[in-house]
Amino acid sequence: MDRNLALEFVRVTEAAAVSAARWMGRGDNHAADKAAVERMREGFNSMSFSGRVVIGEGERDEAPMLYIGEEVGKKNGVEIDLAVDPLEGTTITAKGGPNALCVLAAGPKGSLLNAPDCYMDKIAVGRKARGKVSLDAMSVEENILAVAHALGKEVGELVVIILERERHNDLIKKVRGTGARIKLISDGDVSGALSTCVEESGIDMLLGTGGAPEGVISAAAVKCLDGDFQGKLVFRNDKERERAKAMKASEGVLKMNDLVKSHAMFVATGVTDGSLLEGVRFRHETIETHSLVMRSKTRTVRFVKALHNDKYVHST
Ligand code: FBP
Repeated sequence: MDRNLALEFVRVTEAAAVSAARWMGRGDNHAADKAAVERMREGFNSMSFSGRVVIGEGERDEAPMLYIGEEVGKKNGVEIDLAVDPLEGTTITAKGGPNALCVLAAGPKGSLLNAPDCYMDKIAVGRKARGKVSLDAMSVEENILAVAHALGKEVGELVVIILERERHNDLIKKVRGTGARIKLISDGDVSGALSTCVEESGIDMLLGTGGAPEGVISAAAVKCLDGDFQGKLVFRNDKERERAKAMKASEGVLKMNDLVKSHAMFVATGVTDGSLLEGVRFRHETIETHSLVMRSKTRTVRFVKALHNDKYVHST
């Protein structure tokens, strides 16, 4: 894959983040998301490549743009699959909370799992615990013990990040039963998965059910950081199950190489302040953005701080 694309993609997430950040704290999830989606699509369409959205805003009949199957780019270059979440954390942005991101993962054609917009059971850990956990063959308690052992920590020192949802009540009880500690988050499990691979974050493991699209994007991020991610699709109805079948997405546990079949890149720009990336700062005549660009092939991790001239950044 053309590595120059990595820096082109960061321009796309930067622009989307700036547009979304203008809606930070305004209580309007929909407007924030729309602003990010429009700018992301505009950005893709100014690039010389042939992109195909495999994870996007939903199916063609429910999303006006960046829908699954949409072709983007000038269609004159390398063929790339895209998994996009123009605004990961719409509610977070609307409420002015932490860790909202504009994110995308990209890989050669056929490299990213084509998953429907259903839920996914997830487990994510960093490099030291790679290969030591299992979503189907081990219980929650066994996974926690394995991670503690791999990290050389007492179970009581572990921190597991979990989305705060009623469906997780049992899971939370089990995790607390082991003595491990939990960081509950209101939204944003891509950022949660990413943080398991960053020692300074203080997060050792992600567990729980979140969006399947976010799962594929998280897997790409974790692959770039040499960690481990496994997911299992969760269907709310037969329509979702049929859709998965049509997309040839397996109902079993999806390991890293099922989710991201070859090399991929992951690009994110902070919308609101977070543990890994600062959010967009609007200053007099300049706009500051903070992004992360990673490639699994070389495991390069780049933090890109950019100062944009206000005149050249379109307002929403
Ligand atoms: P949005 O940005 O689409 O609101 O998604 C945020 C998020 O918290 C994801 O990070 C997570 O995977 C998913 O929603 C969880 O879904 P739900 O809110 O239905 O539990």
